[in-house]
Amino acid sequence: MRAKFAYQCQGCGALAPKWSGQCSDCGAWNTLVEIAYSGRPGAAENRPGDVSAEPPRACMLEAISPAEEAGIPSGVGEMDRVLGGGIVAGAVVLIGGDPGIGKSTLLLQMLAAATGEGKCSGLYVSGEESAQQVALRSRRLGIDGARIKLLTETRLESILGVAAQEAPRVMIIDSIQTVFTEALASAPGSVGQVRESAAQLIRFAKSFGASVFLVGHVTKEGMIAGPRVLEHMVDTVLYFEGDDSSRFRILRSTKNRYGPVHELGIFAMTEGGLRPVTNPSAIFLQRHAQSAAGSVVMVCRQGTRPLLIEVQALVDQSFLANPRRVAVGLDPNRLAMLLAVLHRHGGIVTHDQDVFVNVVGGIRVTETGADLAVTLAVLSSLRGRPLPADMVVFGEVGLSGELRPVPNGNERLREAAKHGFRRALVPKANAPRREMAGLEITAPARLEAALASI
Ligand code: TYD
Ligand code: MG
Repeated sequence: MRAKFAYQCQGCGALAPKWSGQCSDCGAWNTLVEIAYSGRPGAAENRPGDVSAEPPRACMLEAISPAEEAGIPSGVGEMDRVLGGGIVAGAVVLIGGDPGIGKSTLLLQMLAAATGEGKCSGLYVSGEESAQQVALRSRRLGIDGARIKLLTETRLESILGVAAQEAPRVMIIDSIQTVFTEALASAPGSVGQVRESAAQLIRFAKSFGASVFLVGHVTKEGMIAGPRVLEHMVDTVLYFEGDDSSRFRILRSTKNRYGPVHELGIFAMTEGGLRPVTNPSAIFLQRHAQSAAGSVVMVCRQGTRPLLIEVQALVDQSFLANPRRVAVGLDPNRLAMLLAVLHRHGGIVTHDQDVFVNVVGGIRVTETGADLAVTLAVLSSLRGRPLPADMVVFGEVGLSGELRPVPNGNERLREAAKHGFRRALVPKANAPRREMAGLEITAPARLEAALASI
């Protein structure tokens, strides 16, 4: 049956025959999105993911044997780390990122590695670039294209037709914003098109057991029709980020049904494509000849490995009624809280100072283990006195001024020792039971004692 065009409110689910700015049911504005709708509520085509005509049956959880979901290694180590082991059959992965960050490069390299030596078949669907452009890139990357099929197409029905014929083990859609389905009248890239196309591709992945990678551009203006509208539909969400000025790129997982989240994969963009960075601590740490005020090296833990990162603070007298607090790579609310703790428990006044804190290297720190480092960096800048250059710091600062332990303390200390640090300032509960060779550890229980010790 040919689908009729209809609109649905994203807030309350009400259907409307025509688009309008406001939903007539719930009154919300700008929530109407075009959907494929046949006229009957609950009709098969309104329910993505419904592939069989058999009546469904419930079964006991214990009777289900989980499929071996180890996944095949993608051939790119940093990618496997972020995916949680490898490429899982039937999994749908969304890779978001700014235009030009290197998503196409990464996926082409991954596809080449995954399909290499006849391990599996791959299909690369490009809706953005011509076959010549993709071929040019693959030459530049030194990829042997013998096992990769390329399709330049944007019509979803054609893509699915080719995919069903080729039955690839890994399929890449570059990008989901260019794909459109004839079932909807709206333009490619609109919320309705992106969602409906993705739903059909997900259905294909699940029924053919293919792994599908969707590229999604993050749009500057509020991520409309970007990866955000797909995040809940796919199995894994990865973001590829990095500074324009820096050649380093970070692949981060924010959702993963097959592995851990907040895992980081770190790459360097070179002439010959993306190269995995095996010792990331070394790149985030530009060691200065002499230590500078306001700079503190901390050991944070992103995903499953420790990373040495430099935190910088600049504290300067403010002439504003509301002094500025700027945190780059860090939660600004956390900074405000730490300044309050510093005042209340350390007696250090910053209410007449502008405070800027930056995590070097464009990395974003989400764990509380950075608290102590941020606090000390602020104090060091305020006093204009540098901390010892061979000192690392980590630990959470509580509201009552206590220093709380963070997970995997010993591993963090070992990472610091490996990079030549000689001193560590950590919460008391993170002090190792046995001495660590070459590392002098100070482990106070409270912030006051930590401040006094430096
Ligand atoms: P691309 O993968 O096209 O980005 P996206 O798909 O996310 O839009 O990569 C874009 C940038 O990467 C481009 O500016 C050039 C650079 N690049 C290199 O530096 N080296 C390379 O080998 C390749 C292929 C690209
Ligand atoms: Mg691209």
